[in-house]
Amino acid sequence: MTAKPLVRADLAMRPGYHSPQIDVDVRLNTNEAPTALPAAFHEALHDALDNVAWNRYPDRSSWALREALAERYQRTPEEVFVANGSNEVLQTVMLTFGGAERSAAVFEPTFAMHSQIAKTTNTAVIVGQRSEDLSLDLDEVERVISEHSPNIVFLCSPNNPTGIVDPVGTVDTVLDLMAPTNGLLVVDEAYGQFTNTSAVDTIGEDVPMVVSRTFSKTWAMAGARLGYLLGPAWIVEELYKVVLPYHLDSFKQLAGRTALDFSNAMDAQVAAIVSERKRVLAALADLPVTAWESGANFFLFKAHQMPGNDVWQALVDRSVLVRNTANWPRLENCLRVTIGTKEENDAFLAALTEVLSA
Ligand SMILES: Cc1ncc(COP(=O)(O)O)c(C=O)c1O
Repeated sequence: MTAKPLVRADLAMRPGYHSPQIDVDVRLNTNEAPTALPAAFHEALHDALDNVAWNRYPDRSSWALREALAERYQRTPEEVFVANGSNEVLQTVMLTFGGAERSAAVFEPTFAMHSQIAKTTNTAVIVGQRSEDLSLDLDEVERVISEHSPNIVFLCSPNNPTGIVDPVGTVDTVLDLMAPTNGLLVVDEAYGQFTNTSAVDTIGEDVPMVVSRTFSKTWAMAGARLGYLLGPAWIVEELYKVVLPYHLDSFKQLAGRTALDFSNAMDAQVAAIVSERKRVLAALADLPVTAWESGANFFLFKAHQMPGNDVWQALVDRSVLVRNTANWPRLENCLRVTIGTKEENDAFLAALTEVLSA
């Protein structure tokens, strides 16, 4: 038997990213949009696809899509980078600004992929902790930056898995703290449309900050794998030197471009999700649980008198799947729930009420 090729030593033992799926009636575990874009979107995309020269490589610069995104955010296309999901956006940032001898700071608990991508790109991860109430602790941010001068600092607002939105002014404060370090601030706003504050207005050629967003949540296009970054043109230029040529296929470019013509539908869906989030959180106030205020399309909660794993299993038994975060560090007994349709949310509330009164 020939010996197996060896996986890179620093990657060999890691568990990888897991998000288990189970066949249930109500799936509220991956923060997707509950409903698809309108039928008119599918028709428009279908028509647009008829004109694609599939024998040719896609537009390498994804220019039409970047122009459309730039228009939405009142930026220039040169300030927009697009990729296969915001995960690929973040990976490209890490390949460009991270790597051997470099470091990235994260504040836990936060989106697990920030650390995972850092490790994959051989970037050292510096772990800071959020406060007891899971909000960002600026004293801790200051400590981490002054002690370690990380090359990259990740913020995530609204944060996954807590849904907490950083207070206005946080980005400016962190940029000030980072000024002596030459580091890059990466603000992950995958859920940015579900809240009122954003770092996008702070973007500028002299501001060492990028903001990543995605079509997976607001744009109801998790299946297309499309994300984007807004930031200084010089950074976008560097990212395009690193990402693989023709990385974004013609289908995806058209899907994103076409989706942006349906902004009204998406804005309406975002408003409906925000209103459902308020309704569900208000209903939880009557149950023996603690729930965190959220600016995202999900929220975190824990039951007062029942272990999180048991609540999760009892919900699965009632065909409702939420994300089991009960064993994650700092999140003992917590569960994360995506806001679904009104019917799905009612099913969740009914199941949870039953479980907690059993
Ligand atoms: C905070 C955050 N950032 C980024 C992503 C990745 O999104 P995508 O790669 O689908 O754009 C997610 C997905 O769950 C997320 O929660």
